[in-house]
Amino acid sequence: MAYPRFRGTEIWWRRLGRRIVVIALGFMILVFVISLTSDSRRKGIDSDPPSTVSDSDLVHLTLLTNAKDRGAVCLDGSSPGYHLQKGFGSGSSNWLLHIEGGGWCKSVLSCSSRKTTRLGSSNYMEQQVPFSGIFSHELSQNPDFYNWNKVKIRYCDGGSFSGNSEYKPQNGTILFFRGQLIWQAIMDELLSLGLVNASQALLTGCSAGGLATLIHCDDFQARLPKSANVKCLADGSLFLDKEDVTGRRTMRSFYHDVVDLQGIEKSLRTDCISHMEPSQCFFPKQIIENIKTPLFIVHSAYDVWQIQHILVPDAADPHNQWFKCKMDIRDCSSDQIKRLHGFRNAMLDSLSLFQHKKDWGLFISSCFIHCQTWMTSTWHSPHSPRINNKTIAEAVGDWYFNRREVKLVDCPYPCNPTCYNIVFSILGE
Ligand SMILES: *[C@@H]1O[C@H](CO)[C@@H](O)[C@H](O)[C@H]1NC(C)=O
Ligand SMILES: *[C@@H]1O[C@H](CO)[C@@H](O)[C@H](O)[C@H]1NC(C)=O
Ligand SMILES: *[C@@H]1O[C@H](CO)[C@@H](O)[C@H](O)[C@H]1NC(C)=O
Repeated sequence: MAYPRFRGTEIWWRRLGRRIVVIALGFMILVFVISLTSDSRRKGIDSDPPSTVSDSDLVHLTLLTNAKDRGAVCLDGSSPGYHLQKGFGSGSSNWLLHIEGGGWCKSVLSCSSRKTTRLGSSNYMEQQVPFSGIFSHELSQNPDFYNWNKVKIRYCDGGSFSGNSEYKPQNGTILFFRGQLIWQAIMDELLSLGLVNASQALLTGCSAGGLATLIHCDDFQARLPKSANVKCLADGSLFLDKEDVTGRRTMRSFYHDVVDLQGIEKSLRTDCISHMEPSQCFFPKQIIENIKTPLFIVHSAYDVWQIQHILVPDAADPHNQWFKCKMDIRDCSSDQIKRLHGFRNAMLDSLSLFQHKKDWGLFISSCFIHCQTWMTSTWHSPHSPRINNKTIAEAVGDWYFNRREVKLVDCPYPCNPTCYNIVFSILGE
């Protein structure tokens, strides 16, 4: 189940009514698409998106070379890594960690392809990456966290930092599924660099990295001083155990394969796996129910990734009736919009327990998008999506610093004129 129509190395993204090309986002979506499909193709993964950021925004990759001794390695056996920008001024004892996303691999074949990309091997990672959005050190772009220590944790295990096994195919190829060990090694390294004395800390992540955030949130809090203010934020990661449009449980069987292949069971809550099929416990719904640390969810009720892979995976649309709608929400028929609203309702249902938790927060937009925290254009700018006139950055800041309770849920599509909606189109079209 390839995604032949995304074969181009660039995907275009336009704001409704106005053409803005943000290659970075399309690039990320492309990586998701590639990493989920079983016959992944490398094309487009390894080239950096064009960037207009200045050198001061570029942050170097640090590899955890010592972590190899404890078995903490990427899919191919290379060292995992992270990018650290030191905090300054009043933020110098505060820490924001962000776990990179990028889908999962579920089979020996897809994991073998992945290990020749930056999502499976540090040999292919960029030596430096731009820090924007929630990573930005500019007060104007990141009002509450600009001067914190910030860490982007690179994703190279294919199992949301939760795997713990290895695979030796007959022909001698080895795959390492060591996500859980990578998480532990990175935490130890950051603690030794000053995280151990943090006064404020926020663990965040997007998509598969948001799932890792949920899985490790309480562990993160447990490792920090009791006096520290510790919270977690998951962006674009509320993956639903929903049937696709043909009634099949595509996502359930996908997660089943990921959990099984990578030995993820050991990282999941024992009270969950004792009464459920382990892969069920990999779904955010089961994890969130038990999280003790204050949590914020940034999400879209029309999450592009979930529409394209959970609600309408390619196999569920053999006649391409959803093709246009999946590329551009403005091209959905009224019946299709009804299905999308149904998906939104399921999403909101899954969040019902949030209403009762005072120190938990929500920003659920109705934009056709996936991951909104790490880009300035969606995090905090004059043109960012807003709910009740709040940007995501303002909502998260209000929640983190207890300035007010934040439970922002947008009205259904297409009511919010501030939305960024992604539009996929084929190059040359
Ligand atoms: C070895 O097995 C892996 C996994 O099945 C496969 O991807 C790879 O192509 C095989 N290599 C050779 C040389 O057969
Ligand atoms: C944490 O704080 C203590 C006491 O101020 C100090 O001795 C120690 O070096 C700090 N640790 C790190 C890793 O910065
Ligand atoms: C929305 O917020 C901005 C500041 O972020 C403010 O300038 C503007 O007046 C607000 N608009 C409304 C309608 O409240």
